[in-house]
Order: sequence, then structure tokens, then C-alpha cells
Amino acid sequence: MSDRIEIIRGDITTQAVDAIVNAANETLLGGGGVDGAIHRAAGPELLQECRRLGGCPTGEARITSGYRLPARFVIHTVGPRWRGGNAGEPERLASCYRASLDLTRQYGLEVVAFPAISCGVHGYPAAAAARVSLTAVIEDQKRNPRPRLVRWVLLAPETFDAWMAAWAAMWHAGGAGK
Ligand code: AR6
Repeated sequence: MSDRIEIIRGDITTQAVDAIVNAANETLLGGGGVDGAIHRAAGPELLQECRRLGGCPTGEARITSGYRLPARFVIHTVGPRWRGGNAGEPERLASCYRASLDLTRQYGLEVVAFPAISCGVHGYPAAAAARVSLTAVIEDQKRNPRPRLVRWVLLAPETFDAWMAAWAAMWHAGGAGK
């Protein structure tokens, strides 16, 4: 594997990294899935800070403190809902990664953990999301030395399997770090 990408199974709320990324909705006021887990683990101060942000459009990202999380910051990004694949979903999913990585650079962060953005409630098929997500991060890493490490922390076995398969396919095709 590349020395700047890791793919592991697990619960992102336990990650002691500079920032974890939240798969939020446009209100930034919490929800189910990883969003609910992050708010529960961070405590009520996170929602208070999110209220002051006034929402976030799909494909963009906002940053807050991590409060009771082991991570210092939470980057909230809003992934697209899957509508069949021809409604700009890949572009907007890639934009979530770019916007999140831009924020890590603005804050001088070196290690960031992502969930499988859009792969739960938003219904993005895991194999397609894995290809788009990995490509977006690899392209960003070709242009930028920071952040030093991107780690996907994937709770659902099907997303972990999809990420590993996409990674292997890209590696064999020469697209990953070569
Ligand atoms: N750690 C890592 N991954 C997790 C965790 C966790 N603790 N919990 C869930 N996942 P989802 P979306 C995985 O639905 O599709 C919310 O209500 C999960 O298995 O959290 O972008 C928001 O407020 C799945 O693979 O996010 C929005 O309304 C992945 O995280 C909406 O859902 C993403 O699933 C966002 O939907």
C-alpha cells in the first residue's frame, strides 16, 4: 500500500488523529450513521459549534473542534445522495474529499481519517464510491505533500471490501502512486 494511504476496518470515533471527517447533511445539525456516532462521542458542545456554522452545501466542508473525541478536529462534509449516477454524484463526492483535504492544509494537519462518505443513508454503491474516493485522494496527493496520511476507517464490511478491491485494481493498473 502507498505510505500515505491506509484502509482499515473500525469505528472512526476512536481515532486519535488530527481530524476525522464526518459524513454530515446540509444542516450540520446531526443525524444517523457516522454523523450520530460522532456527535454522541464528541458531546453536546459539538452541536453548539455546528449551529453557529449555518449549514454546508453538498460537496463542501467545514471544520470544528473535536471536543471529547480523541481527534483534535472534526471536518464536516456533505456527500451526495445517490440518484443513479448521472446527477453529478461522482463530481460532488470527489469535491467532498478535496474540500476536506484543503481544510487540513489550512489548519496544518498531518493525519486525517475518512469514513465511506455517502455509502450509508445516501445510498452510494460502495464499489463506485471506492473508485471515486481513492482517485480523488490520490490525485490530491500527487499535487500536495500534506496531509501526510489519509486513513479510511470503514465500519461496514462491504465498504472495506470495496475499498480494498478498488485499491488493488488501481494499483495493478498503475494509478496508485506510480
Ligand atoms: N465509524 C466509521 N464508519 C461508520 C460509523 C462509524 N462509527 N458509523 C457508520 N459508519 P452514513 P451518508 C459508516 O449513513 O451515506 C446521516 O444521517 C456506514 O456504515 O453515516 O453520507 C447524516 O446526517 C457507512 O458505510 O453517511 C446525513 O443525513 C458510512 O459510514 C446522512 O446520514 C456512511 O454512512 C449522510 O449519509
